Amino acid sequence: MVKFDLGGCSSFVKEGDYKEYVDKALLAFDVLESETGAGNDFLGWKTLPVDIPESLIQEFEAIQADWKAKGVDLAVVIGIGGSYLGARCAIEALSHNFARQLRKPGDAPEVVFAGNNLSEEYISELMDLMAERNCACIVISKSGTTTEPAVAFRIVKKYLEGRYGRKEASERIVAVTDAKKGALKTLSTQEGYRSYVVPDNVGGRYSVLTPVGLLPILIAGFDIRAMLAGAADTREALKARNADNPAVQYAAMRNLLHARLGKSVEILVTYNPKFVFLAEWWKQLYGESEGKEFKGIYPASVNNTADLHSMGQFIQEGSRIMFETVVTARTSSRTVVIGTDEQNLDCLNFLAGQRVEHCNAMAQLGTKLAHIDGGVPQMEVSVEKIDAYNLGSIFYFFEFACGISAYVLGINPFNQPGVEAYKKNMFALLRKPGYEEQTAAILKRIGE
Ligand code: PA5
Repeated sequence: MVKFDLGGCSSFVKEGDYKEYVDKALLAFDVLESETGAGNDFLGWKTLPVDIPESLIQEFEAIQADWKAKGVDLAVVIGIGGSYLGARCAIEALSHNFARQLRKPGDAPEVVFAGNNLSEEYISELMDLMAERNCACIVISKSGTTTEPAVAFRIVKKYLEGRYGRKEASERIVAVTDAKKGALKTLSTQEGYRSYVVPDNVGGRYSVLTPVGLLPILIAGFDIRAMLAGAADTREALKARNADNPAVQYAAMRNLLHARLGKSVEILVTYNPKFVFLAEWWKQLYGESEGKEFKGIYPASVNNTADLHSMGQFIQEGSRIMFETVVTARTSSRTVVIGTDEQNLDCLNFLAGQRVEHCNAMAQLGTKLAHIDGGVPQMEVSVEKIDAYNLGSIFYFFEFACGISAYVLGINPFNQPGVEAYKKNMFALLRKPGYEEQTAAILKRIGE
């Protein structure tokens, strides 16, 4: 389960200021727990770890068995934002780094993602891959109307129907969408797809523990029961209303650093390539939840040690606008010991007998001390190891802390009004019916 350490902030903040912000966070905790704050009709995520019925998991396992019987070895998961990042984060974290290259017959289907961009090359090259493989598709859109996944699904659906026939294609497509409304719901009812619901009271970026995340993660071969158990245990631990609650501490410290020290950028720092998409998931969670009313901390990320050789310079000596939250696993599932070399031409014999993970830990500690010296406060979120249980714990910790933090900031964490602006312009430029006035205005603005 998640452990939290804010020792790397102690030299930056006054004890009294921190206590003041803990009190603010405890009031925000009350608002979240009493469900009396803005957006309180979107709090279904709080109890998901215990609400997901075993029967639903068994239905997912039936799909897995069905697709295995058909020989499916490629599952295309279509979705964007909250309808994809949680699943991608979990699958990347839990997969072998070289799973694709090491694939063998009988492995769980490889999961690839689509509908998260409008790149013609991406979708066309996805078709190249699908042509080589035995395919199925999970299409995910809560609203059922988002353009990027809708475009990708139109293309993938046509391909599957052309290749397998309409009936067989319908058995290879599963939809995850709203219970009643939206184009995807209409389509899946008409085509007879197996379909699962994104609950009304769960927003996209809080939906990883609904079918949105759970189904793709299970299809990729990972243990969603353990993931739910990790989230459930964390939920229990975070119920404590006190200053030792790590979610309260995290929410208090990040708001304090922002409000009193002008730290307006939070960098999520990881030391394992498996966590690159954890950072992407986290950035959406905090960016879309807090970046409103011209407020909020800008969520950024680096993956070390690679980024110590790129962004490390800026973090050490650039504008002093940031603090760091480091997410690590305390143990590695593999052991690699550096050997001795008689000639020692690479001058690395001083490391002989050391584990690579020890070097990683020393890089992390050295960076922490250097960054603190350079004026960058640091918090640390750690789990014992990277597995489904601990990932569930990380998901729940950051979701719960995000609710508290946004309420400290005075923001509704559960809407995203700003996302509409680009869509209106895009629809006007694409001449979507109903947007005629906006089309005329935008063409005039760009001089066409
Ligand atoms: O967090 C959110 O609500 C958004 O990021 C959505 O998940 C994203 O816009 C995709 O929406 P939909 O699932 O309706 O296609």
